[in-house]
Amino acid sequence: MKRLMLTAATFVATLIAGQSALASDCPVDVEDPFDLTEAQIGEIYACIGDKMVTGYSKQGSEIAASYRNWTVSGTRPAVAGAHSNRLLLTFANDIAAEQYLKFEEEGVKMPVGSILAKESITISKKKKAARVGPLFIMTKLEDGASPDTGDWEYSGLQPNGKPMKFKQSFCHSCHVSWESQDALAYPLEEVRVSN
Ligand code: HEC
Repeated sequence: MKRLMLTAATFVATLIAGQSALASDCPVDVEDPFDLTEAQIGEIYACIGDKMVTGYSKQGSEIAASYRNWTVSGTRPAVAGAHSNRLLLTFANDIAAEQYLKFEEEGVKMPVGSILAKESITISKKKKAARVGPLFIMTKLEDGASPDTGDWEYSGLQPNGKPMKFKQSFCHSCHVSWESQDALAYPLEEVRVSN
């Protein structure tokens, strides 16, 4: 009898574990993130949106705790191609928002203290699910603080809130393509919030 009860307890535990595993996944049935419809992206974001903030905030990052209160620059997450075909949505802090949301193409110089935080969602083909991707961050430093990166500091948080490790040049070598826009690439035109 004892044995039976144990088995039952194990069975229930397995069930609960199974359920929570399912609940933590946001199912997506497409091969290619570029094929996602607007409606599908809406469903994914409704499912995963809160988990993103919870994950990024796990290690106490101030940016993670506050970026959702900043100005959102897109009407929804979108796949631009760069950043590993993830769904991307960028938020601008109060210092950055006015200039960033102009999406200007020439002579842009972001004010010192500007922060752009871009959340990302990975579509796992294998798991047929949407997963939280990294939070990518750009912070504008004082004039002359980092001449090699246009005075930007690139950073990132993993979905578990831990800092990402990479060389500044890894990010800047691509972002420098938008030199006249102060290294900002901006969201896809069709999802830009009009200022
Ligand atoms: C291969 C090119 C490429 C690389 C490498 C790259 N990015 Fe980006 N990044 C882009 C593009 C393109 C966008 C705009 C796409 C979008 O957000 O829809 C962008 C947007 C951003 C934004 C939003 C601000 C903006 O530019 O409009 C942040 C923040 C950002 N990237 C951070 C990073 C960080 C941190 C790294 C390094 C870990 C990195 N990027 C590496 C191409 C790149």
